[in-house]
Amino acid sequence: MDKFSIEGSKTLHGSVDISGSKNAALPIIAATILCNKPCTINNVPDLADIVTMLKLLENMGCQYSFSNNSLKIDCSKLQSTKAEYDLVRKMRASILVLGPLVTKYSQAIVSLPGGCAIGVRPVNLHIDALKAMGAKINIEQGYVHANAKKLKGAEIYFDTPTVTGTENIIMAATLADGKTTIYNAAKEPEVVDLANFLNKCGAKISGAGSSTIEIIGVDTLKGSEYEVMPDRIEAGTFMCIAHATRSSITINNAPLYCMHSIIDKIQEAGADIHIKNDNTVVVSHSKFLPVDIKTFVYPGFPTDMQAQFTAMLTLAQGTSIIEETIFENRFQHVAELNRMGANITISGNKAIVNGVKVLYGAPVMATDLRASASLVIAALAAENTTEVLRIYHLDRGYEFLDKKLQKLGAKIKRLPQ
Ligand code: EPU
Repeated sequence: MDKFSIEGSKTLHGSVDISGSKNAALPIIAATILCNKPCTINNVPDLADIVTMLKLLENMGCQYSFSNNSLKIDCSKLQSTKAEYDLVRKMRASILVLGPLVTKYSQAIVSLPGGCAIGVRPVNLHIDALKAMGAKINIEQGYVHANAKKLKGAEIYFDTPTVTGTENIIMAATLADGKTTIYNAAKEPEVVDLANFLNKCGAKISGAGSSTIEIIGVDTLKGSEYEVMPDRIEAGTFMCIAHATRSSITINNAPLYCMHSIIDKIQEAGADIHIKNDNTVVVSHSKFLPVDIKTFVYPGFPTDMQAQFTAMLTLAQGTSIIEETIFENRFQHVAELNRMGANITISGNKAIVNGVKVLYGAPVMATDLRASASLVIAALAAENTTEVLRIYHLDRGYEFLDKKLQKLGAKIKRLPQ
């Protein structure tokens, strides 16, 4: 296990290139189960979660090679349709294989993901929707057993827009009999990226990006070559890094078209934003103002940016109120930030962040990916040295974060823990 040692209070400069999106790449890789021919997926980030997804598919008989962010993958002849607990427990997104397996191979046995550090995170909506499409589903000894000779198109209404739930049902519906309509679908750009990939393989999906998605089932999908969208959360994280460290950073390859809520809030917090073209932005520190934030489904402010903004706003001149509406336990970074001198109190699903003048280095650790990113932001802005422990969480979702920060002039070292 590794840790980061970060000497803070350094002004950063230069430019950073944003990697491919983890949360777009994961469903797209799962979707290759549906294809009868090999696929080439480019701009795949080299992350622990991607490796977990590839291992999961390899265990089922898929063949792949992955180098220089290019994945060549052939899932056309799977020998097994079982996703084992040992891998699923490492990554909840493993549930994304359920829809593709049951629609293509008529059966699937997928371990139920357990609770997680940020909330209970049930998958009832995925399961109910597959049942509505005709799948017989039993839960036995912690595994979802799903069977269906042929899934049938259905009208699905989600009580709450679920990102991976929408993705699972889009994938299941591509090879189902007839038309499926998903109402109250998730509108996240990663859902659109998945639909674009599947349409390139011959699927008939319309409406992705809106709350009603229609899928007309087809008999087979071919393979295709596709480029994963850049990671909006990584780009947002670097915006917070620039502002928190009072630096000016150029962010290249950012999907600015889907970052309005993040850009709006960082400007309100006093950052200067200079958009150079569709995907290049210069973020500079100007003033440090408090901001109220409420997380919401897309196009609202993403829950995956909440922890990073919380860390940044600890240094604002005034009080920010941050409301988390998606996950019930996503303030675990707060106690660690307070250990660094922040002044944050929690009241229900709100964090009241009273700005302080300085943060101080301390040993800290977090229990999930974005919380860990928030500690790195605080450490880069803090006086003295901070040790961020258990950075395997960061390695799940940020590609080469330490190397990218070193290139910007940060004093960050990866050390054995
Ligand atoms: N929900 C249910 N039942 C379900 C599914 C979801 O009640 O069957 C609830 C959840 O408990 C939550 C809400 O619906 O309160 C939304 O959860 P959603 O299903 O949208 O989350 P997810 O699909 O499990 C994805 C991302 C998360 C991101 C959320 C919200 C991937 C692989 N994961 O999770 O990313 O926070 O959407 O945007 O796409 C991360 O990258 O750090 C991360 C956690």
